[in-house]
Amino acid sequence: MRRFYRNARRTWCIAAFGAVAGCAALVPPEPLPAFTVAGDAIPVPLVQAAGDSARGRTVMAGRDANCLLCHAIPESGERFMGNVAPPLSGVGARLSSAQLRLRVVDQSRLNRDTVMPSYYRVNGLTRVAEAYRGKPILTAQQVEDVVAYLQTLR
Ligand code: HEC
Repeated sequence: MRRFYRNARRTWCIAAFGAVAGCAALVPPEPLPAFTVAGDAIPVPLVQAAGDSARGRTVMAGRDANCLLCHAIPESGERFMGNVAPPLSGVGARLSSAQLRLRVVDQSRLNRDTVMPSYYRVNGLTRVAEAYRGKPILTAQQVEDVVAYLQTLR
């Protein structure tokens, strides 16, 4: 029903103004599937399928997540890594998978001023490029894959 309402609003807008791009801005982003934050963690995985650490490693070094822009992971064997954020070595021993999940999903809930992107959030962002509006940076499965890789850093 909600989807019907959103589509109707977009159709109406396009009919009235004939502008597809401008109308997308009028339609609020689709809400992401709900998850529950408990303390500094998200205890329940975002998807049922278990995370895959090898895929997570690829996601982290890839263009969308680009975690290595800020974080070093010496054991990853990558050549170029950032140093504006704490190295992630040992993070799997320091933090539980539930705690890691919240940090990847939305670090700004723990530190409002962080420069770390919120990888699984669509609301409350400003000046998001048209092509990315309403979509999180990572899919729920990718978040779980990244958490699985972080867990191996001990
Ligand atoms: C633009 C820089 C930046 C990028 C990109 C980034 N982070 Fe971060 N991250 C930070 C900073 C800075 C912190 C320190 C905590 C804070 O700012 O609140 C942090 C903290 C963390 C922490 C908590 C570390 C600890 O020891 O408590 C984890 C885990 C983490 N990041 C994982 C990731 C992963 C995984 C990615 C990619 C999916 C990523 N980060 C991308 C900047 C970044």
